[in-house]
Amino acid sequence: MEQNSAIISLSHVKKIFDGTTVVEDFNLDVKPGEFITILGPSGCGKTTTLRMIAGFELPSEGKILLNGEDISYLPPYKRPVNTVFQHYALFAHLDVYDNVAFGLKMKKVPVEVTDRKGNKKIKMKHLSIKEIDAKVSRALSIVDLDEMEDRDVSTLSGGQQQRVAIARAIVNEPKVLLLDEPLSALDHKMRKDMQIELKQMHKKLGITFFYVTHDQEEALTMSDRIVVMKDGVIQQVGTPEEIYNEPINAFVADFIGESNIYNGTMIGKKRVRFIGANWDCVDDFPLNEKVDIVVRPEDVLMVEPEKGTTVGVISSKIFKGVHYEFIVNVGKNEVLCRDTHDHEVGAKVGIVVEKENIQIMHKELSVNQYTDAYINSNGQVVIGEDPFDADLTKLLPGSHLEEEGSTILIGPDGKHYDLNDAEVVAEIDLDKIELSDDLSKGQAQGTIIQSVWIGDHYQYIVRTDDEEDYVVNSPFTWNENDIVSVAVKKEDIKLRLKTPIEELVRE
Ligand SMILES: Nc1ncnc2c1ncn2[C@@H]1O[C@H](COP(=O)(O)OP(=O)(O)O)[C@@H](O)[C@H]1O
Ligand SMILES: [Mg+2]
Repeated sequence: MEQNSAIISLSHVKKIFDGTTVVEDFNLDVKPGEFITILGPSGCGKTTTLRMIAGFELPSEGKILLNGEDISYLPPYKRPVNTVFQHYALFAHLDVYDNVAFGLKMKKVPVEVTDRKGNKKIKMKHLSIKEIDAKVSRALSIVDLDEMEDRDVSTLSGGQQQRVAIARAIVNEPKVLLLDEPLSALDHKMRKDMQIELKQMHKKLGITFFYVTHDQEEALTMSDRIVVMKDGVIQQVGTPEEIYNEPINAFVADFIGESNIYNGTMIGKKRVRFIGANWDCVDDFPLNEKVDIVVRPEDVLMVEPEKGTTVGVISSKIFKGVHYEFIVNVGKNEVLCRDTHDHEVGAKVGIVVEKENIQIMHKELSVNQYTDAYINSNGQVVIGEDPFDADLTKLLPGSHLEEEGSTILIGPDGKHYDLNDAEVVAEIDLDKIELSDDLSKGQAQGTIIQSVWIGDHYQYIVRTDDEEDYVVNSPFTWNENDIVSVAVKKEDIKLRLKTPIEELVRE
């Protein structure tokens, strides 16, 4: 096999559970011997992806290749991969040796034998005690447990048990080891140690590690390459340095390491405005474009107030060993900074960021999302301080309201749920908001604070008195500072409960 061809290749892989897509158009080539990590928040589809490679789930669409061969529909035991699970189950009544040897004792391998007539034949035979011994010893030495063969697994620490689980997976000499958050049950110190050990095991074994974690620090420390995932979709693939230094969007920036993220507006050629100040930058975006700004805390320089691009007041200080971490309040914004020099809380400081360290990204705004909305006693959803009519029955399929305007939802099973005061996330599409000069026409009103021409329509931001923003696509012309009303049809407000609906059952 060529060195540069992929050992595992996922091509347009999709997984649908009960009508919901949890992995979408996943494409990835994994190089032989690589340590690759899928990183993303809980529920983003990491385990599902891993289970498709292992063969515990079948893809709804797409292909999975191993060394160029389609294994999408091969049963798990026929795939040359092994998995270390998040919740590993060891045999408590067996010692370390037997836990690792367990699978090998049942395994049969093809061997060439000569029968009585002198004909060569392939026969499936169990491994000899000696062969098993050699394999188990090798696996235990890789996980550094050679001295512990006879120990009962129940007497081992969490870290040692996890090493037994890894030994059990590598004893079969898989080509690929799949690891699903294998360190999540360990405490912080143990996890740090095991990260280093896993990296060493990876070197010693020379096989491909396909690792899954929600812990960005773990991913950055161990991986050759990281695949950042969100809602079933790959956001970015790259080396730890690439992902850290050049996040492709605000989600990746926020997820990887600590970042200052702000809304910004392009105000000129390579000039951008954010946190109330104007900055030079190296990226060029169209004038007036709304952008996301990312600045790493270590790139914020604290200087004398008169030398700063902007000034702020230190509101907190934490000593971190090598450096201090400060929060500087600049107007309504907080700037997280690191500095090896001490400054006092309450001190006024200037803030400077080198233009190379201001990362500018397109805003990917497709929907207005209001995470602090709630249902009022009239069965309306309140966004900011403005009530909107909404279809509450969408919160529970097959349900209906006790009566129009009521907050009591009756489920298909006859159970009553009281939605009064329930916290919800409300979403409104940019195209589903109607602006009007007639202030009585809408449910909310505000001032147009920004207007941008995007190719074939305007995009406006309407800000209400209580500082709620509505981003609106519209073919019509308004001016900045115009006061308009915002109207949304009942069916165009999407709602999601913040708590499980079961908690709202009324006895
Ligand atoms: N067997 C299943 N049936 C239905 N939904 C599932 C099943 N397995 C996972 N899911 C859903 O798929 C989504 C992704 O899950 P998972 O791959 O476990 O995420 P992660 O490992 O990133 O936390 C979740 O919303 C989860 O509830
Ligand atoms: Mg998982």
